[in-house]
Amino acid sequence: MAVVKTVADRKDNLDKILVKGGNPLVGKVTVSGAKNAVLPIIAASILAGSPVQIDDVPNLTDVDTICQVIASLGVAVARDGNTVKVDPAGLDTFEAPHELVSKMRASVVVMGALLARMGKARISHPGGCAIGSRPINWHLKGLEALGAQIRINHGYLEATAASLKGARIYLDFPSVGATENIMMAASMAKGTTIIENSAQEPEIVDLANFINEMGGKVRGAGTNVIRIEGVSHLNGAVHSIIPDRIEAGSYLVAAALTGGDVTVENVIIDHLKPVLAKLRESGVEVIEADTSLRVIRRSELKGIDFKTQVHPGFPTDLQAPMMALTTMARGTSIITETVFENRFMHVEELKRMGANIRIEGRTAIVDGVARLTGAQVKATDLRAGAALLAAALSAEGVTEIENTYHIDRGYENIVEKLQGLGAQISRA
Ligand code: EPZ
Repeated sequence: MAVVKTVADRKDNLDKILVKGGNPLVGKVTVSGAKNAVLPIIAASILAGSPVQIDDVPNLTDVDTICQVIASLGVAVARDGNTVKVDPAGLDTFEAPHELVSKMRASVVVMGALLARMGKARISHPGGCAIGSRPINWHLKGLEALGAQIRINHGYLEATAASLKGARIYLDFPSVGATENIMMAASMAKGTTIIENSAQEPEIVDLANFINEMGGKVRGAGTNVIRIEGVSHLNGAVHSIIPDRIEAGSYLVAAALTGGDVTVENVIIDHLKPVLAKLRESGVEVIEADTSLRVIRRSELKGIDFKTQVHPGFPTDLQAPMMALTTMARGTSIITETVFENRFMHVEELKRMGANIRIEGRTAIVDGVARLTGAQVKATDLRAGAALLAAALSAEGVTEIENTYHIDRGYENIVEKLQGLGAQISRA
């Protein structure tokens, strides 16, 4: 089964978004499945010996890409709305094509799964991207500890492993991707693997749950020590993706910045604790219900200080949107990005809209201004795009955002969802 229509096919190739600011966002919006959970989970589906069904999959260009990657390995992939069905029986290739891996570096997580299933993997070395060089040294160190031999040849990573053997692996940094790659390879290795200083993000837990639903034995996901007992084979399963905490946070911020009253539905509140704390510190009212959050802004925003950290700290993926919030807050905000070395690309674009921001190394100092004005701006990466959208929704006049393909990588139906909240927004 070929991969059916992609998000890009459905968009009539309009790559700009026009926003007329000034309308407070009001109403309800529903969060989609988490991009950063579904990408490794679709990659992990090739571990199964029989068909897998994944529900609550967001329609995103990154999801199109990972589906194309596994389809290129011989695996049958079918999309039906927010469901992806994978039949890994046809897996017959261990090489992921350059043009797909270069489009999305997260494709590198197929490496661990390919080594587990095929004993081989040939993946184009994923490049960096706008937010940093994005090395994969800890991925490779972990896979080598499990017994893989890896070399770089003509820009490709060539890995072979006659058999994978459990090992104790200490991660110098709790890398999300490295934890995922190692977990997938270890799930079918001989013996037990312990990952120490592992990433603790909710998306890691969702991946571990999926592997266990296929018959795997992963314990400790969500903590900084994960124990994996290898099994000889994994079966098909049906899995629902967790809600996207970063998409949820992006809508919470946009609602607050526009002075609105929005209920964000389909959230796991526990995944957003640091974000809710900072929203409250800035003077926003946040009302919690079982699976939804309501934000109301009744007063002036106050400046806040925050530092991005690995989970459970403040998520780096919400640094840019939260910075947009501070641009119109009273006082000065000090924002430090500790995870990526170059994640302030949105600053220059926000300054074009009148924001007052200066950068000192990994810290941005934001002096709040009374108003932002619409301008022509460029999305430089996914979350910078979300920040610019939030700023545009509260700016005076019209903003034209270019390179919106970045935004479509991680925000399902964002124009329609914002229109549903009263935004004057359209593609152009
Ligand atoms: C995942 O990227 C997410 N992507 C990112 O989301 C997220 O920002 C990041 O985790 C941190 O939470 C997906 O899950 C698809 P890391 P990943 O390995 O796995 C360095 C978004 O906007 N590093 O935890 O690449 C790396 O350069 C995206 O949705 C090494 O040096 O993140 C970075 O500075 C952006 N060597 C830091 O560690 C390695 O081997 C954290 O990277 C691996 C990483």
